[in-house]
Amino acid sequence: MSKNILIRNVPESIHNWIEEERYYRRMSKQDFIFQVLEKTSTYGQLPLHYFENIHPVAETVPSAISFSFVDLFSGIGGFRLGLQKVGGRCLFSCEWDANAQKTYYSWFGETPYGDIRTLKISDIPDHDILAAGFPCQPFSIAGVSKKKSLGRAHGFKDSTQGTLFFHLATIIENKRPPIVFLENVKNLLSHDNGNTWKVIENTLKDLNYIVYHKVIDACAYVPQHRQRIIIVCFDRDVFGNEIPFSFPEKLASTPLKLKDVLEDNPDSKYTLSNHLWSYLKAYAKKHKEKGNGFGYGLCDLNGITRTLSARYYKDGSEILIPQGKTKNPRRLTPRETARLMGFPDELKIVVSDTQAYKQFGNAVVPAVIETVAKQIIEVIHWHLTSKGRCLIKRQTSTTALESRHPELSHT
Ligand SMILES: C[S@@+](CC[C@H](N)C(=O)[O-])C[C@H]1O[C@@H](n2cnc3c(N)ncnc32)[C@H](O)[C@@H]1O
Repeated sequence: MSKNILIRNVPESIHNWIEEERYYRRMSKQDFIFQVLEKTSTYGQLPLHYFENIHPVAETVPSAISFSFVDLFSGIGGFRLGLQKVGGRCLFSCEWDANAQKTYYSWFGETPYGDIRTLKISDIPDHDILAAGFPCQPFSIAGVSKKKSLGRAHGFKDSTQGTLFFHLATIIENKRPPIVFLENVKNLLSHDNGNTWKVIENTLKDLNYIVYHKVIDACAYVPQHRQRIIIVCFDRDVFGNEIPFSFPEKLASTPLKLKDVLEDNPDSKYTLSNHLWSYLKAYAKKHKEKGNGFGYGLCDLNGITRTLSARYYKDGSEILIPQGKTKNPRRLTPRETARLMGFPDELKIVVSDTQAYKQFGNAVVPAVIETVAKQIIEVIHWHLTSKGRCLIKRQTSTTALESRHPELSHT
């Protein structure tokens, strides 16, 4: 059957885009257009990521822009909430903890894929931003230098083998997302005498990304001292070497106070028992006598709290709410920990108190993600306006499309 097609009045921007894409794929214009149409009819919907960024772009930087992302090590979706606020569309999530999956399902209607170590890279859709709050693990220094000296192309394969970051880096290497957006504890920088950060930064640079990082305190957005390292990487192949990115400088003008997130009538079960309160006081006194600063954290309601940790469920001693002279202090309720992290009340808590404390203590503050994402949007906008491109990546390895259609993989 003959494959004739005639489309009139194609806008110049689309025409240029087709020309670029078919050139990159080493296809004729006609074959490329058929390919797109075939995908549309096979999967019953427009292959949106092909088209979404070729709409005319506003002159001024918009507060939201259409882009796709994947949410790896998603936890309960702090990244997702922040990215959705600025126009992001989540295509895939990965999180192996059954309770976190339960919360994620209740909030987003999707159960994330489980263990990242068993994930087939070809099952991850193409995306514009890869987001991940990955766990921090040490790397073997010996592996790095020895193998690097052998002149291997990507030292990370040896230096990060056996770690979760290895899996992340492998996904980045193969999927080549234009932007990588990571979050971790501040301690990542000093972990293992700085080696962990060195390996991570070098790996991302070796993969041809420009890497920015900054420690940001979420206290500008929530009444909690919570310092986290935020890492934003741009693919040099897509964005070039001069990228107008900077982390947000301006903090919220009226930061919240602890009292703003407290419930009116918390259940009495959150009040410490006499036994636990006496124990915590005695423990703190003992450590004070030894000259250690360790102790419980009785909060100032007009101030901010210490960092909420995933271990808060144990005794809650790091953040205690005073209840006057006649009553023992209490711990935060799960809803209060949600608010302390900036998760809105509309999101129901569907797990036990213990799991909720763990989940919120592990999460990223969505408002931090949203604020940094706005800075990323400035770069996307700059890219789209100054270079007139969509964000579709230029892959060096086999694309998902090519793996479904091996005939596209020309030499
Ligand atoms: C620091 S938390 C990320 C929290 C997330 N940013 C949020 O807002 O909730 C890291 C997550 O990685 C998950 N994780 C650890 N190992 C994993 C694996 N092998 N596969 C998938 N997820 C894993 C943990 O269960 C945890 O929820």
